Amino acid sequence: MSRVRILAVVSEIFPLVKTGGLADVAGSLPQALRQHDIEMVTLVPGYPAVKAALGRTEEVLALADLFGGTARVLAARTAGLDLLVLDAPHLFDRPGTPYSAPDGGDWPDNAFRFGALGWTAARIGLGELPGFQPDIVHGHDWQAGLTMAYLAYDGGRCPRTVMTVHNLAYQGQFAAALLGQLRLPPRAYGIEGVEHYGAIGFLKAGLQFADRITTVSPSYAKEIQTADMGFGLDGLLRRRAAVLSGIRNGIDVDVWNPETDTRIASCFGASSLADRLPNKAAVQRRFALRQDPDRLLLGLVGRMVWQKGLDLLADAMPALVKSGAQLAVLGAGEPALEQRLAALANDHRGQVGCIIGYDEDLAHLVQAGADAVLVPSRFEPCGLTQLCAMRYGAIPVASKVGGLADTIIDAEADARDATGLHLFPVTRETLEAALKRTAKLWSAPAKWRAVQANGMRSDVSWTGPAKDYSSLYRSLLAAKN
Ligand code: ADP
Ligand code: GLC
Repeated sequence: MSRVRILAVVSEIFPLVKTGGLADVAGSLPQALRQHDIEMVTLVPGYPAVKAALGRTEEVLALADLFGGTARVLAARTAGLDLLVLDAPHLFDRPGTPYSAPDGGDWPDNAFRFGALGWTAARIGLGELPGFQPDIVHGHDWQAGLTMAYLAYDGGRCPRTVMTVHNLAYQGQFAAALLGQLRLPPRAYGIEGVEHYGAIGFLKAGLQFADRITTVSPSYAKEIQTADMGFGLDGLLRRRAAVLSGIRNGIDVDVWNPETDTRIASCFGASSLADRLPNKAAVQRRFALRQDPDRLLLGLVGRMVWQKGLDLLADAMPALVKSGAQLAVLGAGEPALEQRLAALANDHRGQVGCIIGYDEDLAHLVQAGADAVLVPSRFEPCGLTQLCAMRYGAIPVASKVGGLADTIIDAEADARDATGLHLFPVTRETLEAALKRTAKLWSAPAKWRAVQANGMRSDVSWTGPAKDYSSLYRSLLAAKN
C-alpha cells in the first residue's frame, strides 16, 4: 500500500475556526486517515483566528496578485494538523464569521475570497508548491468548488479530484459578470461549465468537474438526487450518479469522550451513569431550570436556521410544556428564530431555557446532562449532534432524514438495538408524537437505560468512514492507470 497525498480545501477547521459540523469534519478526518497511510494537508483561509493559532510558520508560496492584493501560503503544523494557510490580508483579515461581517451580512466580495481559495488550491494541485505534489485535491462545499474548474481549464497535468457536499442548500451563486475577474475563460460560462441558473455557481462547478462526488451519508446521497431535496442540482447529480457516493461522518471520540471531558461538570462512562447526574444539575442551573433529577430534560444544540426545524419545535412548545418535560436550547442564527425561542423561554421560565450564542463548552455540557437531545431537522446531510448525544448517553429524538436516518435505530422498529427515536415526515404533529413517545420511554426506566446503553456502545468514530475514504481515494487513483 503506497502513501497517498491529499490536498484538502476547506473554509473552516476545528479547533481553529468553526461555525458548524464542516469544521469538525475537516479537523478530524486527517488524523483518522493517517493509519491508512494517507497524508492530508489542508488549505484554509488565513482569518485572524487561524493566524493567531499558528505557531512556527514557513512561507512556501508567494502570490504577487491574488484578486487585488499580494498573498502568500504559509505552512504550519498546529493542533496536530498539517496546514497550508492562505495569508491574503485584503481578503481574510476581517472580524466576523468566515462568511459574514459582524452585523450578519455576507461579505460582498465572497466570490473573490473563496475564488482565491480555489485559485490557490489549483496552483498547489498543479505542482507549484515546491516539494508537495498532491495525488488528489479534495474540496469541501461551495467555498472550494471553483478549485475543480480552475484545474479543469488549466489544461496542465491535473491531480485527481473529489468534491464533498456537506450541505446542498449553500451553493455560492455569484453574478455572471464576474467571470473574467475570477480568471475563468469565456467558455466556462455554459451548462457544461460553471454556469448555474444565469449565474456562476461555485458548488455547481465543483460538482460538474470533480472526478468523484461524495456527501456525508448514504441516505443524503440518494435524497439530493430528488427534486424535493436537490435544491436545483438534482439533475446534475443524477447525471453523475455513477461517481456519487455517501460516507457518513464520524466524530472525534477523544474530543467527545465523557470519561475524560474537561468541559463538563462530572465525567462518566457507561458503567458509571450516576456520575452523569451532576451534569444534568449543571444544565438545569445554566439554563435557569428547576433543579429536579427525575424530570425529563430535553436538550438541543444547533444553528438556528430553517434546516434545523426550530420553528416546528416552537410550534410544538404548548404540547412540550404540557408534558412536564424541561427543555434547554443552545444556538445562534436567524434573528427571528432566536427571538422566538428566547420569548418562549421567557414565557415558561424554570421549564424552558434558551441561551443564544456559540459556546463549545456548553455544547458538551448539554450533551452530558440532557436525557434526550432533539434534532427535528427538515433535512440533515449527516448531523453530528446526534452522534455526540449517543456517545454521551443522551437519547437522540430526530427526524428520519439523511444522516439521522442512517445513524439512529428507532426504538419502535427494532427495540433490541434501538439507539433513539425517529420522526417522519417532519411536521409539528410528528414532532409532538415523538415527544410523547420520549415521555413514555422515560417512564419505563429499564427500557430507557437499554436504549441509552445501545447508543453509548455505538461506533460513532471515524474508524469506518476513514476506511471508506481511503478506499475511495485508492480506487480513484487506480482508475487513472
Ligand atoms: P451543522 O453542520 O449543520 O451545523 P452538525 O450537527 O453537523 O450540524 O454540526 C454542528 C456542530 O456545531 C456540532 O459540533 C455542534 O456541537 C456545534 N454547534 C452548533 N451550534 C452550536 C452552538 N450554538 N454552540 C456550540 N456548538 C454548536
Ligand atoms: C453540514 C450539515 C451537517 C453535517 C455537516 C458536516 O453543515 O448540515 O448535517 O453533519 O455539514 O458534514
